[in-house]
Amino acid sequence: MSFQERVFSGVQPTGALTLGNYLGALSRFADYQDKYECLYCVVDMHAITLWQDPKELHENTLGVTAAYLASGLDPAKNIIFNQSQVAAHAEMAWVFNCVTRIGWLNRMTQFKEKAGKHRENASAGLYVYPSLMAADILVYKATHVPVGDDQKQHLELARDIAQKFNHDFADIIRERTNLEDFFPQPEPLIEGPAMRVMSLRDGSKKMSKSDPSDNSRINMDDDADTIAQKIRKAKTDPEPLPDEEAGFEGRPEAENLVGIYAALAQEPKLAVVDRFAGAQFSEFKKDLTELAVTTLAPVSDELRRLKADPGHLESVLKAGSERAEAIAEPIMKETKAIVGFVGA
Ligand code: AMP
Ligand code: TRP
Repeated sequence: MSFQERVFSGVQPTGALTLGNYLGALSRFADYQDKYECLYCVVDMHAITLWQDPKELHENTLGVTAAYLASGLDPAKNIIFNQSQVAAHAEMAWVFNCVTRIGWLNRMTQFKEKAGKHRENASAGLYVYPSLMAADILVYKATHVPVGDDQKQHLELARDIAQKFNHDFADIIRERTNLEDFFPQPEPLIEGPAMRVMSLRDGSKKMSKSDPSDNSRINMDDDADTIAQKIRKAKTDPEPLPDEEAGFEGRPEAENLVGIYAALAQEPKLAVVDRFAGAQFSEFKKDLTELAVTTLAPVSDELRRLKADPGHLESVLKAGSERAEAIAEPIMKETKAIVGFVGA
């Protein structure tokens, strides 16, 4: 059985967005808006799985909305909204909490990383985070999910949940809908170079908005001077750039900077390796800075402009939430009926 093609993705409003978010997620979202029906969500309910200051959460939610728009997403073409304004996400997440198995959740590496050594003290929400993420996607029966590769494991879990639901309720699904499967198996849309942008200070760590060092990342709203300074300070090694990709072995920082260049230039990494083969980092960093500044400047200018008008951003989210709700509501209602809830 085939499902209508639909894209869903989400970004957490937990801080200023980084170049990793931009290259790994936002800049790609715009590529899909002409091909698919797309929903882009600010996942404020995921954000509170770790403590968020309420004022900052509010501000960051508008900040991610601005970043979506500044990255080229048209709010008329795409449904741009925040998760907590559509109640069906929470309702579906509860059903999925009862479908997913504790053993599945125990395998999630992100939980282990985020809970750290104090697992007993982590919120229950952090633990069931992946079933809320599955709900986000499946409450729209979305078929395609653009995410960075750090989210692949969660997406696999969403597929497992869809499959188990389809299987557990197979008889009633067939009886009520004449369909084999009620939920699709959502597929990742992960393409192109620099899927995972690493920290500028440590090539083995993901570039993250939650890293305590601001020098570890380029923020989407950094100005040209700040970008230049961060790239100048970025960790490298004493060797010149390699002349083949195999030369990155044991040189994660070099590989990361070349990956960033390739992603910004929208070129294959190999082409960048060829161009800078044998070059010193000082020379390469100069070109990288220029490329980063020219690529990001229009985005960061637009971001600052949009952030200055919170009323506009709120109205974008409200309109988007209404459109999202119109899709989710009938799917949620049918899910409740399948489960056996009276009144659905
Ligand atoms: P998050 O910041 O964790 O809410 O992530 C939002 C989106 O950005 C997700 O699709 C992530 O996969 C992507 N993302 C976050 N950090 C990076 C990174 N360092 N490199 C590539 N993609 C990233
Ligand atoms: N977990 C994702 C992240 O941290 C954000 C997210 C929540 C998401 N729900 C989603 C991404 C649904 C894709 C689809 O990056």
